[in-house]
Amino acid sequence: AANLRIALAGLGTVGTGVIRLLADNGALIASRAGRGIDIVAVSARDRQRDRGIDLAPYAWEDDMTALAARDDVDVVVELVGGSDGPALALARSTLGAGKSLVTANKAMIAHHGLELARLAEDHAARLRYEAAVAGGIPIVKGLGEGAAANRIERIYGILNGTCNYILSEMEDTGRDFAEVLSEAQALGYAEADPTFDVEGVDAAHKLAILASLGFGTRLDFDGVEIDGISRIRAADIAQAGALGYVIRLIGLADCELAGGGGRHLFQRVAPYLVPVSHPLAGVDGPTNAVVAEGNFVGRLLFEGAGAGDGPTASAVVADLVDIARGSAAPAFSLPVEALEASAPVDPGHR
Ligand code: HSE
Repeated sequence: AANLRIALAGLGTVGTGVIRLLADNGALIASRAGRGIDIVAVSARDRQRDRGIDLAPYAWEDDMTALAARDDVDVVVELVGGSDGPALALARSTLGAGKSLVTANKAMIAHHGLELARLAEDHAARLRYEAAVAGGIPIVKGLGEGAAANRIERIYGILNGTCNYILSEMEDTGRDFAEVLSEAQALGYAEADPTFDVEGVDAAHKLAILASLGFGTRLDFDGVEIDGISRIRAADIAQAGALGYVIRLIGLADCELAGGGGRHLFQRVAPYLVPVSHPLAGVDGPTNAVVAEGNFVGRLLFEGAGAGDGPTASAVVADLVDIARGSAAPAFSLPVEALEASAPVDPGHR
């Protein structure tokens, strides 16, 4: 088959990671995908910035939406970020042109995932976002495909690497919140706006996506109750420790059958006390970990790097392999029409 031709929008940490991964593992990826994957065009805000990477082999577009209109591009990889604005415009024009979209943008998927999935279906294109949830952990495929035979009853875990780094550093060193936050920013784990990390919004984006995938329910970001970690003090952590617990920012989604055939969906992000004997208590640093409970498979635990160039690029390129192989799987475990027709879901337990 002809090589898959891709365009990259956004050349930050993840974008340059994707270029390096495709260069280093190109032959291996081609053998697994059944064809090669070629970058043909790129776009980013600043053409001149030194990224330590030679961009000469690729066509450059100043206007990133122009990537979607190119005849020599089959798939656009969106690594720009932001729930709306240029990323959303690019996603709409890509799918609207019948090209597939791979994105790492959890905010955009949490807010507009259903609209984009419908656009993809209407134009026989694919929408893939493995890198949007928990970085390198293959949790979107794990829930959407690997556990597809199960009724998933509960999903919970550590979904923000920055918060987990902050909490575990505070625990290990007794230092206070602000000091450790600046360190997490310097290490490159935090979002451009770190309030999204520390106030739990980033974890809520990921939780809403996981809930939809796992339960086959419509995305409901607005239904997530959110509390972050900015008010946690060293004294709280010391007190938790004295009682045999650690504090972790946990995203929890629970879906129960309700009367009348409907379902209650509970989604919350909050600091929880985790007993030191629980597997999540041992998850330190910028790591993510997700537990999913299925009615036949039992308890699954996924753990790995939730951020960073290598792990996130690994997830982006896995989506490209999936598209190169011709996967026709829907974006959210069910076709959009079936998702919308599924039993009504009430925000539960309020
Ligand atoms: N800021 C995010 C985190 C990056 O800390 O987990 C990955 O979404």
